[in-house]
Amino acid sequence: MAHEKKLREYGLPWPEYQLLDAGDGKKLERWGQIITIRPEIQADFKPGWSYAQWHNMAHWEFEEQSSTQGRWLNIRPHAPEHWLITYGNLTFGLKLTKFKHLGLFPEQQANWRFIKNQVSAGQKILNLFAYTGAASLVARNKGAEVVHVDSVRQLITWANENRERSALSDIKWVHEDALKFAQRELKRGKQYDGIIMDPPAWGLGAKGEKWKLENHLSGLIEAAYGLMSPGAFLIVNTYSPKVEIADLASTAGQYFSAHQLEIKQLWMPTKTGKELYCGNLLRAIK
Ligand SMILES: C[S@@+](CC[C@H](N)C(=O)[O-])C[C@H]1O[C@@H](n2cnc3c(N)ncnc32)[C@H](O)[C@@H]1O
Repeated sequence: MAHEKKLREYGLPWPEYQLLDAGDGKKLERWGQIITIRPEIQADFKPGWSYAQWHNMAHWEFEEQSSTQGRWLNIRPHAPEHWLITYGNLTFGLKLTKFKHLGLFPEQQANWRFIKNQVSAGQKILNLFAYTGAASLVARNKGAEVVHVDSVRQLITWANENRERSALSDIKWVHEDALKFAQRELKRGKQYDGIIMDPPAWGLGAKGEKWKLENHLSGLIEAAYGLMSPGAFLIVNTYSPKVEIADLASTAGQYFSAHQLEIKQLWMPTKTGKELYCGNLLRAIK
């Protein structure tokens, strides 16, 4: 995927996480003391190190058994199945899930940086598709009032455990379909100073209703625009092959003028000098 460098925004490594290498459809990552090998469809290039070198370093490798599930193969005996890592003064619990995910999307570091610089105490922040709460905790850590929405109750529990580990308080947890919640907040005349959304390519609402991002993107951005107070920020992250960067620009362009909008790709550098594409990124200031 050849894209102009100026379109790229980088999720950067931090002391407890690094994308070590990637290639041949896989990626090698360090999470604190634990090193994993996971499938990565965007790694359509040759890795910097050999597979044998990867295996000498790794503790766990995820083996796909279907397009959505698989199992973790233990490479280094006695390696933990769940452990903690930090991001600044925040602490996150990681664990091996049957979906290859571990509990953090490290490329989001690019948005955590933005949120940290943008948010101030007392502001109202809405985090939709909020998963284990990294962005919610970064905003709460700046003193913001945070509403955290996800359709999976176990993930809200996981996010609440991360809040406790990070000695933070008072996040409003909402177990609901993100669009339905946003539209109801609109009817209530609610306003937010920042809206964060990181929808998957497809998902299940809180009542199991299947949805595809390409069918809901416009409704999500329309609702977000209505909920934004003057000067508020919006972050939309997408990794759907059905939502191209041009789709993101044209949809957002219906609500925001060009000078209010920033459309980029999210990339991560590897220790071996490669660059991995991680999705598209929209930021807007109202
Ligand atoms: C890609 S993850 C988000 C990652 C998150 N932004 C982060 O960096 O930690 C997508 C999340 O959306 C949630 N989700 C999927 N469909 C949803 C829906 N209709 N309403 C609310 N949340 C939904 C999933 O449970 C998952 O936690």
